[in-house]
Amino acid sequence: METKIGTDIDQAAHLLKKGECVAVPTETVYGLAANGLDEAAIRKIFEAKERPMSNPLILHFRNEAAIEQFVLDFPAPLKKIAAQFWPGPLTILLPKSDQVPFVITAGNERVGVRVPSHPIFQKLLSQLEFPLAAPSANSYGQISPTRSEHVLKQLKGKIPYILEGGWCTSGVESTIVGMEAEKVVIYRLGAIPNEALEESLGYLPEIKNHTDALPVTSGMVAHHYAPNTPLSYCDSPEKTNGNSSNSGYIFFQNYSNSIPRENQFILSEKGDLREAAVKLYDALHTMDERKFDHLFVEKMIEKELGRTINDRLNRATKKK
Ligand code: TXA
Ligand code: MG
Repeated sequence: METKIGTDIDQAAHLLKKGECVAVPTETVYGLAANGLDEAAIRKIFEAKERPMSNPLILHFRNEAAIEQFVLDFPAPLKKIAAQFWPGPLTILLPKSDQVPFVITAGNERVGVRVPSHPIFQKLLSQLEFPLAAPSANSYGQISPTRSEHVLKQLKGKIPYILEGGWCTSGVESTIVGMEAEKVVIYRLGAIPNEALEESLGYLPEIKNHTDALPVTSGMVAHHYAPNTPLSYCDSPEKTNGNSSNSGYIFFQNYSNSIPRENQFILSEKGDLREAAVKLYDALHTMDERKFDHLFVEKMIEKELGRTINDRLNRATKKK
């Protein structure tokens, strides 16, 4: 199948209404969308990504009101953070109504729901009478896409259309939360930092971002978000000496003077963690394409979005 990239929202809506998959821009990463109420369309997402059916999908809605009929309950603390962070990069696990197919939730009683803020995605949703199921638009286990070219590289020939929306402005996936024993719990670190949730709720939610054998969410499996080139952590640029082999380096803010500049990628010259998050996946895609023998990346400071970036890097550096 030929894969086109374009800015035609009507065309994207038309394909989705016909039960096709379309890659769409969101503020976090590009998603691979399909009609979230059409099982055959949903299966096409799993096929294109080669993703196991045991991995549930997030449903995207144009606003909170549109979610009502798909969930049985929306506890007050979650409503509070939804009011603050929607539209935006927050996914909430809520008990599903029988209108949500079990293929979306992989048999779980809870469904992940999100109201995205990207204006193009919003406009698309407003033309549709169904929510859009959308995982990140990458092949399973690979680096998430933050530009349309990243999607094309991985899914070319497998989907008919990529809706162009420019760079994703958050650059890392949504933060996933839910309730356990009357408290909000964080299931995936994401674009909304823990500090912001803590400020809103008055307590720091427990982080259940495990890497054990039975992950609640796929982003929790130990090896994920990974380039094909082997990736490991390195020291700060001041302490890192380039070895003689053909290696690429991703640093937070500063170049190393002992490594050729063209072997280095700087995430944020001004030292801004938000900018580093926006560029993270592009850095991994770009450096992966340059066919170094090995890639090295500096760990971020363990706060705010640095914690989210480190979470992704911890998984990307795990051996396959
Ligand atoms: O920012 C995002 O969340 C992006 C954009 C496209 O919205 N989507 C995204 O989807 O990251 P995905 O499928 O790549 O990651 C969603 C994670 C998966 O790890 C999945 O297992 C988990 O959310 N998840 C979804 N529904 C769930 C459910 N009902 N129960 C537990 N985990 C769920
Ligand atoms: Mg993903």
